[in-house]
Amino acid sequence: NKKTFKLNTGASIPAIGLGTWQSAPGEVGKAVEAALRAGYRHIDTAAAYGNEKEVGQGIKASGVPRSEIFLTTKLNNPDHKRAAAALDDSLKALGTDYLDLYLMHWPCSSDPSDMKKVYSDWDYVDTWHSMQKLVDTGKVKAIGVSNFGITHLERLLKDPNTTTVPAVNQIELHPGNPSPKLVAYNASKGIHSSGYSPLGSSDSPLSNNETLKSIAESKGRSVAQVLLAWGIQKGWSVLPKSVTPSRVEANFALDGWSLTDDEIAKIDAVPDRFKVCTDGWIPIQVFFGDDE
Ligand code: A2P
Repeated sequence: NKKTFKLNTGASIPAIGLGTWQSAPGEVGKAVEAALRAGYRHIDTAAAYGNEKEVGQGIKASGVPRSEIFLTTKLNNPDHKRAAAALDDSLKALGTDYLDLYLMHWPCSSDPSDMKKVYSDWDYVDTWHSMQKLVDTGKVKAIGVSNFGITHLERLLKDPNTTTVPAVNQIELHPGNPSPKLVAYNASKGIHSSGYSPLGSSDSPLSNNETLKSIAESKGRSVAQVLLAWGIQKGWSVLPKSVTPSRVEANFALDGWSLTDDEIAKIDAVPDRFKVCTDGWIPIQVFFGDDE
């Protein structure tokens, strides 16, 4: 699957990337290797996942040249005042000298001396301004954000010191959390949406959804494949996570077929709402309902 989307930097981002949230260090290296051998050219990780070292080892073991891979990692919340140093830590762990995309993981500047608090003299807009400087070092080709709502982006974009529009906003996207207003807002600002937990994560309610099951059956595809095709045809890149090589491969097998407009409309109309990722574990609320 060679489909890509264009970023506002001019670079291309492959439509399917391997997600690695909740992929344990002992298994993620093999998953990354399997993905790259199956043809993936996009890997998504984060400092907070605690698996960058093994992700880097998987990349090396695959034999696929670094230059062919779109590699993303994310700045951890307690590192907002040390973005440049945190980037160096991530590069070292990944065993590479540059990232294709560096994301601010959350609009939340946690105080490392008390993780129940955010800084009183610093916030994510300040963090963004440090990240803007990283592009000039050549260590990151693009910068973006994750888990940002419209109000976060509005504040960031209207700040007079903001000179770079985020290339990407990586958010939870699946039929149970479709966020059409946020996706449209991202697009209106030239920000590419990237969808995490596209399958609804483990024990996904989507796997038993009758609409999805009947579409999958009629296409001779799995529900997972239908969910990924839906996201890509809606215009965002998808980041399915798996540590099972057969699933890693199946999730990439989206060539030679597509969903009809009618099938997409039926999936859009699935009414049940749920969220995989919550904000209860960070010191501030960042999610304010389906689309905020
Ligand atoms: P595993 O990693 O054990 O293979 P999401 O990307 O929405 O977060 O979903 C990840 C979850 O879905 C993981 O539990 C993963 O299991 C599972 N999964 C990934 N791909 C498939 C697939 N093709 N069919 C069924 N389950 C899958």
